[in-house]
Amino acid sequence: MATLTIINYPDPRLHTVAKPVLAVNDEIRQLVSDMAETMYAAPGIGLAATQVDQHIQLIVIDTTKEQNNLQVFINPKIVAKSGLTEYEEGCLSVPGVYETVTRAENVRVEALDENGKKFTSDAGDLLAICIQHEIDHLLGKVFVEYLSPLKRNRIRKRLIKQAREFEKNAD
Ligand code: NI
Repeated sequence: MATLTIINYPDPRLHTVAKPVLAVNDEIRQLVSDMAETMYAAPGIGLAATQVDQHIQLIVIDTTKEQNNLQVFINPKIVAKSGLTEYEEGCLSVPGVYETVTRAENVRVEALDENGKKFTSDAGDLLAICIQHEIDHLLGKVFVEYLSPLKRNRIRKRLIKQAREFEKNAD
């Protein structure tokens, strides 16, 4: 297992549209395992392959505090949604930023698990929000894109400044 490097907004690679996984094989399972380790170490409750510069339709989620319920979604598709809910979201690719986003309250998602088996999941609450946030990553969309251009620009500038300071300190 290994932790992977998470790319940060406004890195243009975060806007890459992910391709479907064609075969769920050992290579994919290794990536699932590395992504889970990366997510738990961060710590975060969800990670899309896009964020570790792998542009395939794969997300890992664990909304438990105990980090003991890993959920893997390969080629996920939202096939039904209902209701609206607001939540203050964060993202491992946008460190230190938390903003309120409106999303569907409930979603039904179809996906493959890490063995390539198709399943359907009816999700609500935090899991539904997290699934929508991570599927957005696979579409090349970061949650700050739901905010006003003014707010988004402020976040973009702050993160560019942070990255520059980090590089300076690394010299
Ligand atoms: Ni995110």
